[in-house]
Amino acid sequence: MRISRIRIKNWRNFRSSEVRNISDVVYLLGPNASGKSNFLDVMRFLRDLAKSKGGGLQEAVEGRGGISKIRCLHARKDTEVLIDVDVVDKDGLSGWNYILGFNIPSSGFEKSRRPIITQEIVNRIENDGQKTSLINRPNSADEKDEDQRQQTYIEQINSNKEFRDLAEFFGSITYYHLVPQLLKFGDEISGRTVEDDPFGQEFLLRVSATQERTRNSRLRKIEKALQSIVPQLEDLKFLKDEITGRPHLEIKFKHHRPRGARQREDQFSDGTLRLIALFWLLQETGDAPLLLEEPELSLNEEVVRQLSYLIDTVRRKRSGAFGRQIFISTHSYALLSNPGIDPDGIIVIEPSDDGSSTRKVSPTEKAALSAGLSPAEVVLPHARGIPVGRQLKLDL
Ligand SMILES: Nc1ncnc2c1ncn2[C@@H]1O[C@H](COP(=O)(O)OP(=O)(O)O)[C@@H](O)[C@H]1O
Ligand SMILES: [Mg+2]
Repeated sequence: MRISRIRIKNWRNFRSSEVRNISDVVYLLGPNASGKSNFLDVMRFLRDLAKSKGGGLQEAVEGRGGISKIRCLHARKDTEVLIDVDVVDKDGLSGWNYILGFNIPSSGFEKSRRPIITQEIVNRIENDGQKTSLINRPNSADEKDEDQRQQTYIEQINSNKEFRDLAEFFGSITYYHLVPQLLKFGDEISGRTVEDDPFGQEFLLRVSATQERTRNSRLRKIEKALQSIVPQLEDLKFLKDEITGRPHLEIKFKHHRPRGARQREDQFSDGTLRLIALFWLLQETGDAPLLLEEPELSLNEEVVRQLSYLIDTVRRKRSGAFGRQIFISTHSYALLSNPGIDPDGIIVIEPSDDGSSTRKVSPTEKAALSAGLSPAEVVLPHARGIPVGRQLKLDL
């Protein structure tokens, strides 16, 4: 399944925004602080509602510091926070529509200031377009017992039976922002691992826990992808330390010495580690989206230039089908300099004094793209905070 439409209201720095026809590989582009991470956070929020451990509306709001942090500072009279998404099945026709609105009640619950549901709607859409309403709240049960409005049905196993697939889909959305130092120096830092491990501290355990055959096949694909950018790379291997039993990755480089030069993950460059983790995640099963923050970080420009191509290659399965949907936030010129990027996959985020807005590529831009120019040349100049050619002046 994949997300095909997102509408948000009063969400962070977006007052009101809708993106339709969202494709399989999505590039969210915009200048610093335009709201790329905030946009990804819509999907993380859905995940937080529905995840099997510790999920739910109250936790999701609380985890973000309360509704006042989530609600757009530019909100007007209407202060409801709203998320409205369409999810389509593999066939591209049938699917779901999920709408959740919430707010702090104007009366009643005031003491607790706990957010309550202003609306929760689940519709099932069949492949012939027929729509069935499964949930439409507030309903009579909510009227009888107002406290019920503190919880969504998507988070409740005994209420989501008819749309369990949708709940599980939301629950398995993955956010990944690997911080190489956490992986390399995990022992020295001996920090607590954040639930769901978004920063990749336990990435090697993840690799280790994967069945050997699957693991080998994924690593081979990663090895091939890496070889296309690092020609000296001979192989990438998983191994366990003979003494400590700990999982490791090892890269062997072609070298003048007969045994070659070997490196373990703590010697890999930050960029290599991030790439390995990215390519691994792209191959993980489960069909919910993968959310990636600025994959260009710590990679050299030549590699970033090829990234979109590599992502497509790794996503392609042996059957010719594609893997999971992926949302990538970026403001890298190099990343977007591949003319092969699908124009429909681009979402431009434009900041203004009244909050940010989202848009797809305009017809003029599309024409330039189909004439062979790259998104970096066509779209990025308009999506930059500072007009091209003007020098940034900082009064420090
Ligand atoms: N509730 C809110 N209302 C308005 N602006 C917000 C809200 N929450 C965060 N922001 C603003 O959004 C901006 C950050 O957006 P972010 O998604 O981190 O940007 P990016 O990822 O594009 O660099 C910051 O300027 C922050 O102050
Ligand atoms: Mg960001």
